[in-house]
Amino acid sequence: MTEQGSLVAENPAVIMGNLSHQFLSPDGGTMDILQGVSFTVREKEWFTVVGPSGCGKSTLLNVASGLLRPSSGDVRLVKDDRDLKQQEIGYITQDSNLFPWLTAIQNVMVPLEIRGVPKQERVERATEWLRLVGLAGFENHFPRQLSGGMQKRCSIARTLVYEPEVLLMDEPFGALDAITKSTLQKTVLELWEKRQTSVIFITHDLTEAIALSDRVAVMTGRPGRIRAIVDVDIERPRDVYNITDLSTFKELRRELWQLLENELES
Ligand SMILES: Nc1ncnc2c1ncn2[C@@H]1O[C@H](COP(=O)(O)OP(=O)(O)OP(=O)(O)O)[C@@H](O)[C@H]1O
Ligand SMILES: [Mg+2]
Repeated sequence: MTEQGSLVAENPAVIMGNLSHQFLSPDGGTMDILQGVSFTVREKEWFTVVGPSGCGKSTLLNVASGLLRPSSGDVRLVKDDRDLKQQEIGYITQDSNLFPWLTAIQNVMVPLEIRGVPKQERVERATEWLRLVGLAGFENHFPRQLSGGMQKRCSIARTLVYEPEVLLMDEPFGALDAITKSTLQKTVLELWEKRQTSVIFITHDLTEAIALSDRVAVMTGRPGRIRAIVDVDIERPRDVYNITDLSTFKELRRELWQLLENELES
């Protein structure tokens, strides 16, 4: 286990330096949401964050994506010693955020269009990603004609289609049924293993956290701080379906659960 602040990775992809954030509360005061959050995600690392509801996980990703400026502290997303451009970052937000006036395939093609990908290739890549997330046959449906889980899958396709350098995912599989969830976990894991993108992943599901990650950070209750960072020492490629049988898995799950339980009680 590595404690907060002691991490200086050799090849950093995301550097969070002493990040704090306050939001205005309805009574006109301020509310501390994040407090002194420091960690470094290595290049090609899958880094997961778990923590109690409302502790600031989505706020943390909003900051990492550049959508929200933190009250204090530094955030850097880098690759080969240069700062990444906004369009090299992929962010699957907690809400699906599809454009309601565009069909599923048009939604998935938007990021490709922005990046100047030719029309034919746009159609091919978007069609393939809709297939991978189980939406073949729904290409021409508008978001309102899709279920909540289908909208979520469409938004996953819309981000993965352009293969970002850093991928930020906020509970991407949370609202899905068990079978779709494990199929998508496998698809995304395979893509990650092939592309070796750096990932920050948020989940409430400890099994998912261990199955997918290199390290798991546990946050405290609000104001969110990093309570501990746990290494997941399980070799890859991993079998997401049977990983729960491993004794290492069981030990890690117990360790993470205890850390989280302490936060929920305090
Ligand atoms: N735009 C905002 N203005 C004011 N307060 C906000 C805003 N966004 C979030 N908050 C507050 O910040 C806190 C953290 O919210 P956040 O969405 O980051 O939590 P979370 O850890 O992602 O929770 P969950 O697990 O339920 O998704 C909450 O108390 C929330 O009310
Ligand atoms: Mg959230």
